[in-house]
Amino acid sequence: MFKLHTLCCAALSAWVASAYDVTLGFNGAPQIENRTIDEIYEAALAEGGIVTLWHGGDETNQQDSLKQAFEARFPNITLNVTVDVSKYHDGNIDRQLATGGVYVDSVILQTLHDYPRWDDEGALLHYIPLDFFNIQPSFRDLRGAWYGVAVFAWSFLWNENRVSEGPKEFDDFLRPEYKDKLVLTYPNDDDAVLYAFDLIMQQYGYEWFEKLLAQNPRWVRGTGTPVTLLSQSNGTSSVTFTSSAGLAPTSPIGIAFPTKGQFVSWAQRAAILKDSPHPEGAKLLHNYILSEEYQAQNGGWSVRKDIPAPEGYQDLADIPSSNPNGFEGFMADRERAERLRLFFEDKIGTPQGLSSLKDDL
Ligand SMILES: *[C@@H]1O[C@H](CO)[C@@H](O)[C@H](O)[C@H]1NC(C)=O
Ligand SMILES: *[C@@H]1O[C@H](CO)[C@@H](O)[C@H](O)[C@H]1NC(C)=O
Ligand SMILES: *[C@@H]1O[C@H](CO)[C@@H](O)[C@H](O)[C@H]1NC(C)=O
Ligand SMILES: *[C@@H]1O[C@H](CO)[C@@H](O)[C@H](O)[C@H]1NC(C)=O
Repeated sequence: MFKLHTLCCAALSAWVASAYDVTLGFNGAPQIENRTIDEIYEAALAEGGIVTLWHGGDETNQQDSLKQAFEARFPNITLNVTVDVSKYHDGNIDRQLATGGVYVDSVILQTLHDYPRWDDEGALLHYIPLDFFNIQPSFRDLRGAWYGVAVFAWSFLWNENRVSEGPKEFDDFLRPEYKDKLVLTYPNDDDAVLYAFDLIMQQYGYEWFEKLLAQNPRWVRGTGTPVTLLSQSNGTSSVTFTSSAGLAPTSPIGIAFPTKGQFVSWAQRAAILKDSPHPEGAKLLHNYILSEEYQAQNGGWSVRKDIPAPEGYQDLADIPSSNPNGFEGFMADRERAERLRLFFEDKIGTPQGLSSLKDDL
């Protein structure tokens, strides 16, 4: 009996080895990268030449360009990337952690609040990549448990062929010309869109939302879907504020950011799981994503303070109408977020239709 008991608990403690506060272990010092990226590449090849990445997103192809660029830069390395909404990826990571079956190496999600929690659970590798100190300090963890790798921001987007003028502020979405032409992502399906409605309505009041509903917006799943609909040559969807299309979308898509109204921006976080089967592959990936060669070409604001904003834009840190550090607090207060989510569910209904990862829009 005693023996069985010991066996059971030894096995159990191996499985849930990290499900406690690791603070008093006093062993949080990070590994500090001191190799060149080509030396890391050698190590990643020797390890097996594959890295499994779970990336947040709402269209399966959203990280295809990362995969192509990474695999072209590092021949014989495979980026095994799966895009799914962060709110589903994170639960599946939790299950891997809970069952000791970690097979994901790198996790890059919009659920920013998961990262400090996972770190408290001892689940994350403390690792300082080569360009770590070039990242905006507010975007990175002191011990390298996680760090921002890409800035996301919702912009005003419109099809220039379908409206006479694009919106400049949130009030403009109430123009008679935009009636039946708005396409918006359900705020109760995506927390970053929920945050947008929170920011807007704290500023413009509930009446703004009532007037928005009177415009008869089309509600869709996924933040990529409005851009797809705006870009189609045959539709009526013409204007949105719940999407991103980089900072220089191609014609006929117009872009603007409000200067009075607050717009959502955040740094998507990356971490390497401590029990990752391919830590060298994950390190290679993170060093590559943070490299100047990758950050400077991807067309958006960079997480790096030494890489200037794209032509025609101010640095995000100098723009008063967005606070990229605000999103983590919003995400961390789950009770408040849930109250907001259910409020919008009551007003506009549960998200209808297939997941944007499974439909053809
Ligand atoms: C390089 O980093 C590794 C891992 O953190 C460490 O063991 C090693 O001592 C470092 N080498 C030098 C020269 O700093
Ligand atoms: C990639 O793999 C192929 C086939 O094994 C080999 O011929 C080639 O040298 C490798 N390239 C690099 C850069 O490792
Ligand atoms: C690639 O990723 C998928 C999904 O995460 C995983 O099931 C599969 O085992 C990975 N493939 C390899 C070869 O690691
Ligand atoms: C518009 O065109 C797309 C293909 O580009 C098609 O899938 C869609 O059904 C069309 N929509 C309408 C309303 O005709």
